Amino acid sequence: MATPQKVQTLPVTEARDAIVRMIRKNQAVIIVGETGSGKTTQIPQYVWDDILSAGGGSKTEDGKSIIVGCTQPRRVAAVSVARHVANQRHVKVGEEVGYAVRFDDTSSAKTRIKFLTDGILLREIQADPELKHYGCIILDEAHERTLHGDVLFGLLKSIARRRGKSFKIVVMSATLNAEQFSKFWWDAPIGVVHGRTYPVSIMHTIEPQADYVEAAISTILQIHEKEEKGDILCFLTGQEEIEDAKRILMDRMKLLPNNVPDFLVLTLYSALPYAQQLLVFEPAPRGERKIILATNIAETSIAVEGIKYVVDAGVVKAKYFNHKTGMEALTEVDISKAQATGRRAGRAGRMTAGKCFRLYTATAFEALSENTIPEIRRSSLVSVVLQMKNLGIDKVLEFEFMDSPPPKAVIKAEENLMLVRALNRDGKITALGVRLTDFPIEPSSAMVLLVAKALGVSHEAVIVVAMTSTENIFLTSRESKEGADRCKAMFAKSSGDHATLLSLYQAYKRSPKDQRKEWCETHCVSHRQIQKAEDIMAQLAAILAEREDDQLLDALVGAKRRQYLHRSGPGGHATEPPEDRKRRRGADEPDAPQDMLDRYTALRHGQLAVEQSGVEGRLIDFELLRRALCYGYYLQSAFFNAKLNMYETIVGHLPVHIHPSSVLFNRRKKPSLVIFNSVVRTTKRYMKDLSVVHEDWLKDAAPQFFAPAE
Ligand code: CDP
Ligand code: MG
Repeated sequence: MATPQKVQTLPVTEARDAIVRMIRKNQAVIIVGETGSGKTTQIPQYVWDDILSAGGGSKTEDGKSIIVGCTQPRRVAAVSVARHVANQRHVKVGEEVGYAVRFDDTSSAKTRIKFLTDGILLREIQADPELKHYGCIILDEAHERTLHGDVLFGLLKSIARRRGKSFKIVVMSATLNAEQFSKFWWDAPIGVVHGRTYPVSIMHTIEPQADYVEAAISTILQIHEKEEKGDILCFLTGQEEIEDAKRILMDRMKLLPNNVPDFLVLTLYSALPYAQQLLVFEPAPRGERKIILATNIAETSIAVEGIKYVVDAGVVKAKYFNHKTGMEALTEVDISKAQATGRRAGRAGRMTAGKCFRLYTATAFEALSENTIPEIRRSSLVSVVLQMKNLGIDKVLEFEFMDSPPPKAVIKAEENLMLVRALNRDGKITALGVRLTDFPIEPSSAMVLLVAKALGVSHEAVIVVAMTSTENIFLTSRESKEGADRCKAMFAKSSGDHATLLSLYQAYKRSPKDQRKEWCETHCVSHRQIQKAEDIMAQLAAILAEREDDQLLDALVGAKRRQYLHRSGPGGHATEPPEDRKRRRGADEPDAPQDMLDRYTALRHGQLAVEQSGVEGRLIDFELLRRALCYGYYLQSAFFNAKLNMYETIVGHLPVHIHPSSVLFNRRKKPSLVIFNSVVRTTKRYMKDLSVVHEDWLKDAAPQFFAPAE
């Protein structure tokens, strides 16, 4: 569907020979250039066409072609660029040009130009520490300084050292902080692609704006009514906000005076279906003005032509780590000066002189920090520390980072990993740690899956982990919110969101196959997201089934397994031996774990009537599932402080609130203890995806943590 690009008009095409010469001559080069100059879409092709495949190309020992990889910080960009390049080369995606992102790998034996996220490349290094199949890695959007990108920098440097000239590195960046990159890569030469840029005049508001979404809408409408031709790009923070703004704009369009033409509103954020993302590249019909509402994806990852006006709300959602609690929260924060000027305002000056309307004051701009803090300095390191240990990098603090992470954060990550026995006391990775790295998810979620396997509820846990790692299963824009709330209430389980998602999915599966799309529509659920989740389920289930795990699982849950399966009821404490109970209650009481699990399986498949008591009661109450969740998320737990009438995290005693999207939000009686998947922070800290748990479940799950050895 992408329109074939007039390749010759891109600034990089004029520099092709020079770029190729530079890469040929040097093991590492840095290339900087304006967004939209053609770096991402063209340079990987030059590397393949003019360097790697030249003279028949070289092969690895196992006879495979040596290829070029180009990393992207965002999935969306990897997918969209791969499709665009495949289209330019008249091939199908997955053949000569392919992409690999988490849970979605289209690359094949035929793939020569591979776009992949930096997280995926990190995983590929775990499987192939020398990256034998790559002759060149292009690290794109290096200015983004993602956590994985920064770890890759160090790892690739040592691979480059070992492999010498047969392994090339190209670092591409949008802004001019190239010296730091060059210094890191042995003073690599810097190539600059000169694009055409035009002046951009910048307007600030006189007063601070209370509601930037409202301010954005009225600014957009003013531009539309008063300013000459040219498209508008507006930066907001996330899907919900963007969809709301779109709806309001469409409503207001109807109120425009007759002599004002209509406009076209398009959206761009990572969870948007691919076909809809592509629309931003199409010209507006009948010369209407195009208005694009986007997250920071549109800063540099996705270059759209024709923008003359930029509206900048000045905020972004980013992950921030709290050392005290060891928790990471998605937080709305101010952008940096570099981001505001280079990456946002700059988007207005690609075709002609443009204008940038900032929804904040000039004083507020002056108060912004100069540069965005690299992710490695502000995020949780649990996952990457485990990956590094798996690669044999035991002394994380001595690793060759471009910017070192805060020692405190490294220590915290190591502590956490030791607590769950993924690392031993010497900080070395254990068999459990290695197993956790098999899963392309956070170690804590992988832990849930393994424990669930030990408890015989892996099927349920896989569903829950997949459903929570898929964004926005319920349609949540203000428009459909009421309907979504009603439907959510239909599946709501008193034990929380995890059980609710599970029961929603089970209901979906019970609906006739050919009617599932309609089923989703009537239940305000995104069919596409459920299908995505199913794909993730299949992959997680496969990894889980790959190994027996018997020893690991014994060590993890051991004797408790028996005890859990014989509990008397939800939160119950009775652990009477099954023999006694059998005698007391009669022989037909199902009590052997296997029998119970068989019955549960039957229940799941609708072959047994639902009884709200006894064994089924325990299973229907999702006790085992919630116990498994405790093993992974025990650090993300909060208790209800009745005195203060609010929740506080167990670690660090931070005030937290139940997110309005949770089924526990409207509960009159507040559950006294909950665990949760994530925290988002706007004006308050909100817990998302919660389950009600019991104190002794947490103690069982993490005795070293909750009841340290005397
Ligand atoms: O990487 P850089 O910002 O230098 O530019 P690029 O991403 O290679 O984009 C070059 C051109 O291709 C721009 O005009 C984009 O609008 C266009 N493009 C497109 O039309 N469709 C895509 N999926 C990706 C890029
Ligand atoms: Mg690019």
